[in-house]
Amino acid sequence: MRKKIVAGNWKMNLNMVQGVSLVGAILKNLPDLNELKQVVLAPSFLNIGVTYQQIMNTPFLSIGAQNCHQEEFGAFTGEVSASMIKGAGASHVILGHSERREYFNETSSLLKKKVDAALAQELTVIFCCGEPLSIRDAATENDYVAQQIQEGLFHLEAAQMKHIVIAYEPIWAIGTGRTATAPQAQDMHHNIRNVIATKYGSELAGNTTILYGGSCKPSNAEELFACPDVDGGLIGGAALNAEDFVGIITAMMNSK
Ligand code: PGA
Repeated sequence: MRKKIVAGNWKMNLNMVQGVSLVGAILKNLPDLNELKQVVLAPSFLNIGVTYQQIMNTPFLSIGAQNCHQEEFGAFTGEVSASMIKGAGASHVILGHSERREYFNETSSLLKKKVDAALAQELTVIFCCGEPLSIRDAATENDYVAQQIQEGLFHLEAAQMKHIVIAYEPIWAIGTGRTATAPQAQDMHHNIRNVIATKYGSELAGNTTILYGGSCKPSNAEELFACPDVDGGLIGGAALNAEDFVGIITAMMNSK
C-alpha cells in the first residue's frame, strides 16, 4: 500500500528560535504516526540540523529541505548540496516548487539534475508540479502537468522512481486561500497516476504517493484527503501554526 504523507513547507519563514518553538508545539499534540502515515517538516536550511535533533526519536517524522544544488560540492558560493542536507539530518528534499521555477528560473533540465543529485544521496524527492491559472482557464492543465513530470522525472529508472513523491500544487491555489475543489484535485491526481503508469506500469504508479498542495487547511483537508488518489498534502501557510498543522495531520490519520 502506498504511504500517506503530510509535509510542511515553511518556505522563507521562522528564525531558529521560532522554528524550535513551533516544532515543540507540534510534538506535544502529534498523533501516533506509522509506516503508512508519515509527516515531513521542511524548514529553512539553517533549521534542518536543530529540527532533526528535536524529532530524531519520533518514528515516521522526518526532515526535508526545500531545495538543493545539482552539484555535490564545489565553488558555488551560497549554495547547499544534497549531501549537506542529508548530513544535517534530512531524508527528503522538495524540488521543482513553483516558487523556485518562477522566481529562480528553475527549468525542467535543471530539475532533472537536481533530482539525480538528490537520489544519489538516497534522499526522497518531493517533486512539485502544477499549472498557472491561464493554463487551467484554457483547460490544458492535464497536458501541462504531464509534461512537467515527463521532463523532470522520466529519465529515471523504475527503481529510482520509487523514491519520488509527487506534489500537485496548482499555482492559482498557493497562498491564495483559493483551494482546488476535491473533484479538481482528484481529477488531476488521477491524471498524474496515469501518466506515471504509462511509463512505469500501474503497480509502481499505484504505489506512488501524490500529495495535494495549495491553501490546504484543517477545514478542507478531510475532504481533499478522502479522494482516492490524494495521498496527503504539501502544506505552506498552515504548516506555520502548530494547531492547524496538527489538524491537517489528524485529517490524514482519519483518512482511509
Ligand atoms: P500554501 O502553500 O499551503 O500556503 O498554499 C503550499 C505550498 O506552496 O507548498
